[in-house]
Amino acid sequence: MAEATLDLRGLPKSEAYRELAAQLESILAGIDDPLTGMSTLAALVHHGFGHLWTGFYRVVAPGLLRVGPYQGTLGCLEIPFGKGVCGTAAARRQTVFVPDVNAFPGHIACDGRARSEIVVPVIDSRGELTAVLDVDSERLAAFDEADRAGLEQLVRRFAL
Ligand code: SME
Repeated sequence: MAEATLDLRGLPKSEAYRELAAQLESILAGIDDPLTGMSTLAALVHHGFGHLWTGFYRVVAPGLLRVGPYQGTLGCLEIPFGKGVCGTAAARRQTVFVPDVNAFPGHIACDGRARSEIVVPVIDSRGELTAVLDVDSERLAAFDEADRAGLEQLVRRFAL
């Protein structure tokens, strides 16, 4: 099987996320390893939309995130809950939008080109927070409600 990542940039976002979800489920059919799922999801979202950085920070100890599967330049290795955008989303267990990273106190700049980001919590079947999905863009205010809905739907596969 050799499926190329779809280029989703010409599509309305809701349609793009529908296509992406279908491609993800077709690639991962029969595989429930979460690391394989995270790696594949990160590759599809990153290349499909042309983002700057796309990946997961996993909860590796109480209150501590460590970088997991990602696409982009070198990510910071560890982020405590409550720090940066990722740590804020983890502490709140809620999606956090940052339209302008320079206006978010405590933003952690792994790649100085990042201008906006969205971080979505990943919750497992027992209701435990296991990771966050961080997506960064070089454009200001690149993310909106369609991204929230699309990304939250994609990570729901880790709750099954
Ligand atoms: N910007 C994130 C840190 C992770 S990276 O940008 C890859 C934050 O503030 O949590």
